[in-house]
Amino acid sequence: MEFIQYEVNGAVGKITIAREKALNALNSTVLEELDATLDQVNLDEVRCLILTGAGEKSFVAGADIGEMSTLTKAEGEAFGKKGNDVFRKLEVFPIPVIAAINGFALGGGCEIAMSCDIRICSENAVFGQPEVGLGITPGFGGTQRLARLVGAGMAKQMIYTARNIKADEAFRIGLVNAVYPIEELMPAAEKMAASIAKNAPIAVRNCKKAINDGLEVDMDQAIVIEEKLFGDCFETEDQRYGMAFFLDKNKEKVKEPFKNK
Ligand code: CAA
Repeated sequence: MEFIQYEVNGAVGKITIAREKALNALNSTVLEELDATLDQVNLDEVRCLILTGAGEKSFVAGADIGEMSTLTKAEGEAFGKKGNDVFRKLEVFPIPVIAAINGFALGGGCEIAMSCDIRICSENAVFGQPEVGLGITPGFGGTQRLARLVGAGMAKQMIYTARNIKADEAFRIGLVNAVYPIEELMPAAEKMAASIAKNAPIAVRNCKKAINDGLEVDMDQAIVIEEKLFGDCFETEDQRYGMAFFLDKNKEKVKEPFKNK
């Protein structure tokens, strides 16, 4: 792969968008490689993913403006679909994805972060949807996910004004969960990923599905989704082990890793 690095450490996979010369901007190749990388993740082994950008300046500085500059209407729509398809794959990916946002997260960069389950960032991170300043709308889900995450009023303000916001403001409006000095960002992401990966994997996956699917429907349907996924857990070895471990009064016993079964 030219622009995507993928490494696995224990049960945690790390995907790095590595096109540093262009501040990790998303061209077609990056999107295709990201798509292929997600297809390669071994879900028997990996229980949580971290997504980050190469270097200490930029997470992702958006979709590639050079590539977009000559697109026709039909090509623009197809480029939007290409990004949306990959970002949706990330959003519904069976295991949790943590975005470790290490700098600029503009346009498509903010949008890919919003497709992840959890966002944490470095103090130098900058967020924004600058598209209207380029004569386009956000095209990789920004009009939809930003409004869902921070509310329609704040999303509209950010998108209409194209004003960038810094990490502290992103934290204040709920766009990120936490802000760290840059050198502490990856250790924090790894620690969070490890604390997710140690839990019963099928239960974690079912939680992701319940939250994602439940947010798409009304509460009466949402709780039925939860009931089904809750019930499914009772067919797993991990549920039997997790509850038996709790009920065992032998305090000397050490908890074994969950089996993903
Ligand atoms: N596309 C293509 N190339 C990009 C890029 C992008 N989105 N962002 C940065 N680059 C390139 C620059 O052209 C430059 O390349 P050269 O060295 O070959 O000139 C290199 O990365 C370094 O960038 P700068 O010299 O501009 O660095 P800077 O520190 O002065 O500024 C920045 C950093 C403020 C992030 C600035 O690069 C910038 O504003 N980038 C564009 C951000 C943007 O508008 N993103 C939204 C794109 S539209 C979109 O994403 C649509 C969508 O929803 C699908």
